[in-house]
Amino acid sequence: MTTTPFPADLPAATVVAPDWVRHAELLAWVGRIVTLTQPASVVWCDGGEEENTRLCADMVKAGTIRPLNPALRPNSFLACSDPADVARVEDRTFICAATRDLAGPTNNWIAPDEMRTTLRRLFSGCMRGRTLYVVAFSMGPLGSPIAQIGVELTDSPYVVTNMRLMTRMGRKVYDVLGTNGTFVPCMHSVGKPLAEGQADVPWPCNPERYIAHFPETREIWSFGSGYGGNALLGKKCLALRIASAMGRDEGWFAEHMLILAVTSPEGRRYHVGAAFPSACGKTNFAMLIPPKSLAGWTISTIGDDIAWIKPGPDGRLRAINPEAGFFGVAPGTSMRTNENAIRTLAANVLFTNVGYTPEGDVWWEGLTANAPPELVDWTGQAWTPGCGRKAAHPNARFTAPASQCPSIDPAWEDPAGVPLDAMIFGGRRASTTPLVTEARSWEEGVYHAATLGSETTAAATGAQGVVRRDPFAMLPFCGYHMGDYFQHWLSTGTRLAEAGYQLPKMFVVNWFRTDEQGRFLWPGYSDNMRVLAWIVRRLEGTGGGVSHALGVSPRFDDLDWTGLELSAETFGRLVSLDKSAWTAELAAHDLLFDQLGARVPARLRSLRAELGAALGVE
Ligand code: GTP
Ligand code: SPV
Ligand code: MN
Repeated sequence: MTTTPFPADLPAATVVAPDWVRHAELLAWVGRIVTLTQPASVVWCDGGEEENTRLCADMVKAGTIRPLNPALRPNSFLACSDPADVARVEDRTFICAATRDLAGPTNNWIAPDEMRTTLRRLFSGCMRGRTLYVVAFSMGPLGSPIAQIGVELTDSPYVVTNMRLMTRMGRKVYDVLGTNGTFVPCMHSVGKPLAEGQADVPWPCNPERYIAHFPETREIWSFGSGYGGNALLGKKCLALRIASAMGRDEGWFAEHMLILAVTSPEGRRYHVGAAFPSACGKTNFAMLIPPKSLAGWTISTIGDDIAWIKPGPDGRLRAINPEAGFFGVAPGTSMRTNENAIRTLAANVLFTNVGYTPEGDVWWEGLTANAPPELVDWTGQAWTPGCGRKAAHPNARFTAPASQCPSIDPAWEDPAGVPLDAMIFGGRRASTTPLVTEARSWEEGVYHAATLGSETTAAATGAQGVVRRDPFAMLPFCGYHMGDYFQHWLSTGTRLAEAGYQLPKMFVVNWFRTDEQGRFLWPGYSDNMRVLAWIVRRLEGTGGGVSHALGVSPRFDDLDWTGLELSAETFGRLVSLDKSAWTAELAAHDLLFDQLGARVPARLRSLRAELGAALGVE
């Protein structure tokens, strides 16, 4: 912390803390927050089993969660949220940098002082009748030099249980924090105080919402929502928005990327980071099981959502997964699409907004080919397969410990990280973008990542299926001006190359091209291994391909088709470049650059001109 955490001017209430809390500044901050929010009690979470059992029992009593059948899914629960609190709220997410220009046109901005005035009003007495939980957590392995500590103060026990799965949380963090360690203050309230004697609701929340970030002072304040990225403040708020600003200042990257290790039939091991927008297949790709017909390839998982990427002492970019769990999209997850995820979910899982079966288990669209004859849907109503409603909300999620994943990599908690050989960027595009393209340089890769387009998904509220620019899959997660972010990528690449670093090669993929009937042309899922195998062969210098305006793509014969029937004609459609589509695409790039204005690096503008010329488009 560079400053005393907000609100510095309030008198601190006396709070009793366990003797393992020895951090004077933290104690004083919690005391001031108690004065501001007026909770009925304060609990310093130790992160232990007993505490979690107690919290879950309390939540069962309150109707927030329901236990699943322990014979089918031991130690697992289902939470169903308020139907108005089901996804991240991008229009209520604010980067309160010192000036609007520092936040940039792709972020909502409110001046820090004005936001603090609003927050003071909203948080005044907002925890009346509730318990304030103090949740100390580490993003990254405990005590690792690259980990960051945060302390989330929340009035949601659901958030506490989630944070215990998603981060290293509780007493052990205080040992690292000591008496004066640095932490990111993360303030959270569902925004629903209880008057004396007032009955609670199962999922308290408030329609007035603010997810506010202060990148200069590295503070996070979230009000009104209890769901996912709005409320689990270590994830998008700290590990992406605040961390991206740290990375800019300190010369590293915080990215919306999965991390995997791939081993070739010859036994060579490579590490890949892949950035796809929300609900576009990171969890699937991170846990991919290669088709049996592609003998000898294996994949293991290091992370499924966030990567912190730092220059290592060995001349390589090294990546760590700062999280300890998966908060994954449930619908569509099945033994066919993601066996490793299904096996991760065998026990100790917190499900949110999926269906509840008469046997006391969970179900969601796509889990099994045949739906159960009846169940209770995520809104609590009786449901049958023909009823016209969905059993699970499209952004229903599971929270599970990463350690339970069968494909988890032995090095997943290595504080040194894994050396990245390739970075992949991909969006959800029904047309335009080829199946796979290799960028011929770091700069060309940055251009493609910067101009990435993708159809919006249920991971955020708002219109679904609309193509928007989602640079680096970071549009909702970049904590500063997107133009400066592009420059950071370009400059860091140049700086590291000059220092003799071996930089990862960059690729662009698109699993989502469709035919005239809207059916996917590419089988996807495990067959994505065919594309990854080609990427590995390109790294090794043996993969064939053809150079075109965007970079290098495989010809039909450059992919291994063993065990898959896909015609050369279909493949042709998967990699084709349509001139009229690219005319519209480049116009969309121009619109993005115009929106970002003078802070767009000149090199990206010149790459745009080169691309236009290569495509014969102006
Ligand atoms: P966040 O957790 O929101 O950041 O997203 P994620 O990128 O981890 O999303 P996830 O892997 O859970 O993506 C889920 C969606 O992607 C579902 O709709 C899947 O059916 C779809 N999906 C994943 N892989 C493929 C693929 O190879 N082909 C197709 N067609 N769909 C896929
Ligand atoms: C995403 O939306 O990209 C997620 C889920 O990973 S959430 O944590 O809710 O942001
Ligand atoms: Mn995500």
